[in-house]
Amino acid sequence: TENERSRSIAEMDWETLEASIRGCTACALCENRTQAVPGVGDRTARLLIVGEAPGAEEDKRGEPFVGAAGKLLDNMLAAIGEKRGDGVYIANVLKCRPPGNRNPQPAEVAECAPYLARQIALIKPTVIFAIGRFAIQTLLKTDAPVSALRGKVHRHDDIPVVISYHPAYLLRNLPDKAKAWQDLLLLGEQLAAAGSR
Ligand code: URA
Repeated sequence: TENERSRSIAEMDWETLEASIRGCTACALCENRTQAVPGVGDRTARLLIVGEAPGAEEDKRGEPFVGAAGKLLDNMLAAIGEKRGDGVYIANVLKCRPPGNRNPQPAEVAECAPYLARQIALIKPTVIFAIGRFAIQTLLKTDAPVSALRGKVHRHDDIPVVISYHPAYLLRNLPDKAKAWQDLLLLGEQLAAAGSR
């Protein structure tokens, strides 16, 4: 059953979890993927970044945020002294690419959720940075728009969550970069506060 599947995922170690994601056939997205994209980075990361789903480039290379949005994400991280792989883990809500990058469907998000939940439990990040509407609404279990949620620290379980616009959105909406900059400062503050505890 669905519950048994969730429970079994909730007990997996990293190797089993990644193998399970790569071989997943729980939803129809497996039919069109080149490969699943479990996530990348430091398994003891302080900072976990959660995006939406692999795009074309990610599907091809098996790594999250390696396309144009990924370059902007790397620059955003650099602005607060963080970098991919070094104390940072990057994952997506969906591990497989939706055809044509269409929006994730609720059933796909539900099937894939146990994987991200297990990644969060294994990593135990100090802060989660949720970028884009899907990651934010999924982690915070809300339908509220990003604009109404920005500017404060939220919680997922007991972990502080800072949110911002998706870098792919920022590439199309340059004026909102100023707001993303404020979000990054909030993220930097959270990381600094955790580091000094
Ligand atoms: N957009 C995402 O949300 N995730 C990726 O991995 C790439 C682009």
